[in-house]
Amino acid sequence: DERKDQLINDINALRKQRKAVILAHYYQPRDIQDIADFVGDSLQLAQQAARTDADVIVFCGVHFMAESAAILSPEKTVLLPEPSAGCPMADMVEANRLKEAKTKLPGAKVVCYVNSSAEVKAVSDICCTSSNAEKIVQSLGKEEILFVPDGNLGGYIAAKTNRKINLWPGFCPTHHRLAREDILKAREEHQGAKVLVHPECREEVWREADYVGSTAGIIKYAENSTDTEFIIGTECGILHELTKRCPGKQFYMASAHMICPNMKKISLQKVKDTLSNMAPVVTVSKEIREKAVCALERMLAVQ
Ligand code: 13P
Ligand code: SF4
Repeated sequence: DERKDQLINDINALRKQRKAVILAHYYQPRDIQDIADFVGDSLQLAQQAARTDADVIVFCGVHFMAESAAILSPEKTVLLPEPSAGCPMADMVEANRLKEAKTKLPGAKVVCYVNSSAEVKAVSDICCTSSNAEKIVQSLGKEEILFVPDGNLGGYIAAKTNRKINLWPGFCPTHHRLAREDILKAREEHQGAKVLVHPECREEVWREADYVGSTAGIIKYAENSTDTEFIIGTECGILHELTKRCPGKQFYMASAHMICPNMKKISLQKVKDTLSNMAPVVTVSKEIREKAVCALERMLAVQ
């Protein structure tokens, strides 16, 4: 409609004027994915944030993602169009509690899922995302590991690498809600369809899946597969990229409830306002940044 076209025109003019790049996660609303300069999973977005030569990064995602961009590119202005867009899982681990847990596991390396605050990253040894978690854990050899905050992803990696990992009891409310029964029901309704799920899902769910991977992993799997029907066990925003990249293939959500309310807080109006006001800015103090950047850079070096 007209209002939307006007908003997009305004965003395009402002993006040029501010020398800004708009990064969006696959869980973002369609409108946002459509105007983004780059759409990706958490790892790809962190890599983009580290290498872009834009002056301004508009992060269409949740707070920890914008914060990671600010840690990796401190000379850039990082804008988060909706400051209350957080990640409940990231809030399930707090730096002081993590420090306490470390004293009980002296010698253990802390692997922190990128879904965590800068303060938590600052007291961790290495970060990971869902697409590189297995590689990161393997890079640590025989070291004892404490994995925070996602107990589901940590448990999945422990099973995949066949090793014991100390887990934190965090979880993503959106993925944790999915149950084995949902998968069984979806399989019955769509016989022969392949089940693709995110490792933030519970063990009883990923054990039922044909493929387990990050958002980018799920998209790549569907694109390269000779199958034509898929049941999707991750946030529903991924359907936009899946249907764009896989014309002629059918995608069914494993449940109607897989929606991340925080990811949906970003709108075209907010992107425009953010670029026009150059606020809200996401910053990280120098002291925290200098420690947190080590964990992120160690992760990026493992690629
Ligand atoms: P990925 O983009 O790494 O698959 O992560 C999903 C997620 O939940 C981000 O918050
Ligand atoms: Fe956090 Fe889950 Fe939303 Fe990802 S989908 S941002 S892990 S709440």
